[in-house]
Amino acid sequence: MKVKAFEWKGDRLFLLDQRRLPQEEVWLELTTYKQVAEAIKNMVVRGAPAIGCVAAYGFVLGVKSGEDHTVVYETLKNTRPTAYNLFWALDRMLKALKEGKDLEKEAISIEEEDLQANMRMGQIGAELLPDRVRILTHCNTGALATAGWGTALGVIRSAHYMGKEVFVWVDETRPYLQGSRLTAWELLKEDIPHKIITDSTAGFLMAKGLVDCVIVGADRITKRGDVANKIGTYSLSVLAKVHGIPFYVVAPTSTFDPNIAEGWQIPIEERSEDEVKSCGGCQIAPKGSQALHYAFDVTPAENITAIITEKGVLKPPL
Ligand code: MRU
Repeated sequence: MKVKAFEWKGDRLFLLDQRRLPQEEVWLELTTYKQVAEAIKNMVVRGAPAIGCVAAYGFVLGVKSGEDHTVVYETLKNTRPTAYNLFWALDRMLKALKEGKDLEKEAISIEEEDLQANMRMGQIGAELLPDRVRILTHCNTGALATAGWGTALGVIRSAHYMGKEVFVWVDETRPYLQGSRLTAWELLKEDIPHKIITDSTAGFLMAKGLVDCVIVGADRITKRGDVANKIGTYSLSVLAKVHGIPFYVVAPTSTFDPNIAEGWQIPIEERSEDEVKSCGGCQIAPKGSQALHYAFDVTPAENITAIITEKGVLKPPL
């Protein structure tokens, strides 16, 4: 595999510091659950499935060091509020602990199952695409955001490996630039043709007939099929609908929250306004102005053509 976001080495966890990409590839060595929690909070590692896998390893580190498991669970849980895979993975680890299972084996299974789910979604999703396709994607949903391969980017990768002629429009994804920094970096490593666009370019490209479909990932999916994903996803879904362009969401079943019926119930992370008011350490707004920084938005099921999971394709009722 060309890209990995994290690597478990038995008693420690290595994380590729995604804050420093694409300039430098630096691996951090973590030995405590508190370091893991900080790394998730500070976005050393990000992307819903990757957050879930890494939190599971954090749980192993915490419990093995003799810490109270409830404290470890709560600390890891209170890092990022929207990505459901985090809660799903931690609940699975807690259940494993209560059932006396081997925790390390459970965390490794979570990682392996995520990789398998990605490969399967890649296959299922790629088969839906035409042989020549111009795809618009948002944020980073690749190997960096998962246990490997990727969700939306996994479908793109699989289509490319199947020999389809794939071209990708990469939304830069303000303000954290997961698109231009991370997705473009992954696409370049795979030699997949792509161009980075500013987020506000998407509508004009659709109007010009240059986008065949939109493919994105998900941080949490409700029972009725509403999807929380990176801020800007909702706007893309509206644009796609207006222009009659298919809008696909790709996510493993571990992203589905069985406790939430509708999109408005999803907790949406608000991040620091400094992330909006500066870019690459450079101030880009007056210090005196305030900014609002929602990290995610919600796309209603009505705007989604299909949700691709490892178990099959879900379509809204007609
Ligand atoms: O804030 P981030 O970078 O963690 O947000 C990531 C996304 O929004 C992804 O689209 C989502 O987690 C799916 S990743 C396979």
